[in-house]
Amino acid sequence: MKKLLVKNIGLLATPEGKSAHRGEEQGKIKFLKDAWVLIEDGIIASVGTGAVPAVEGAEVVDAEGHLVTPGLVDAHTHLIFGGWRQNELGLKLHGASYLDIQNAGGGIQSTTNATRQASEQELAAKASKALDEMMGFGTTTVEAKSGYGLATEHELKALEVIKDLNDHHRMDLVATFMGAHLVPAEYKSNREEYVRLVCEEMMPKVKEQGIAKFCDVFCEADTFTVEESRQVLEAGLKYGLRPKIHADEIEAIGSQLAGEIGAISAEHLIVCPPEGIASMAKGGVIACLLPATSFNLGAVFAPARDMVKAGVPVAMATDFNPGSCPCLNMQFVINLGCLKYKLTPEEVLTAVTLNGAAAIDLADKVGSVEEGKLGDLVIWDAPDLDYICYRVGSNLAKTVIKRGEIV
Ligand code: NIG
Ligand code: FE
Repeated sequence: MKKLLVKNIGLLATPEGKSAHRGEEQGKIKFLKDAWVLIEDGIIASVGTGAVPAVEGAEVVDAEGHLVTPGLVDAHTHLIFGGWRQNELGLKLHGASYLDIQNAGGGIQSTTNATRQASEQELAAKASKALDEMMGFGTTTVEAKSGYGLATEHELKALEVIKDLNDHHRMDLVATFMGAHLVPAEYKSNREEYVRLVCEEMMPKVKEQGIAKFCDVFCEADTFTVEESRQVLEAGLKYGLRPKIHADEIEAIGSQLAGEIGAISAEHLIVCPPEGIASMAKGGVIACLLPATSFNLGAVFAPARDMVKAGVPVAMATDFNPGSCPCLNMQFVINLGCLKYKLTPEEVLTAVTLNGAAAIDLADKVGSVEEGKLGDLVIWDAPDLDYICYRVGSNLAKTVIKRGEIV
């Protein structure tokens, strides 16, 4: 049995439990001073304070009095894509909006063209490099979406790449099918046919191959309408794919549908209206907020405090993608959670660990440092939780431990 003992933890900070925390609970963090954690065969075996147990055969890691938290959960990424879109920066600087670029054939469509041209090997190599970088910043679990194939063959190719990465990379990945990311150019004048293709051709194959757990849709006036989104998510449910929805990112549509349909999570919610918050609270939907996207779009920030107040659990993730958010660093998300959402460091920690895990249905396995969960930890170059929320722009993840192994 492989054993890893992390000792001399100045402060261990973790949420507790196996489900999302909402309201006041979101800000409740367990703090243990002078702690240790024992991991056996990749699973947390015990957590304690004071005298360190003598464990025969254990590899010992000295945390040197630093802060330790659970590994970070990035519950929303568009990891699989060809090319980049740095050319859009100049367009943005000259005043073009995200939707202007998309409607002129740039944006998601241009990444789709590059993704269709890329082989599975090329996509895997590129994503693997991003996963290495994410892990270096403290992320130990990642959700990854398809959605730049927009044709059966290429959507399946992206999901296969995710499966392959989950099998071969240290990172744990969860896949989301997002064939409804954009109506591709060849279906522009026949959008009903594309929605039919997503629901009747792609989804059965996704189910048959068992390569996705969730279904997501970009609900936006210029992308998929509320009715089309409902159609896609209901079809997904038929095929065992739990619904997620990109809602209220640019225009305030989608969050009400999230509540009505009982989505596991709604994403973005930048301009979420009070009715949307109420609908999500009623439907038990987790708000998966993506502050680095607001930052990159020069947009406002989601009303996170109102969500906490209304009892909607808040998770936070990167949204890593080549367009609206070319950022894969969860530490920047942590900073923005405090500075822009005005969440407390405790609420932010819950958002990037336990609530992120719950947003991808993994709260029984990751998201807290507790017996029985995966041995995923970050030793920070920091004395306490406030410090990692306050320092901006440095990588403070000192040692990342994944399933009981030092990365
Ligand atoms: O979450 N909104 C839709 N999808 C991504 C952006 C994709 C892109 O710009 O390539 C998002 O922001
Ligand atoms: Fe997204």
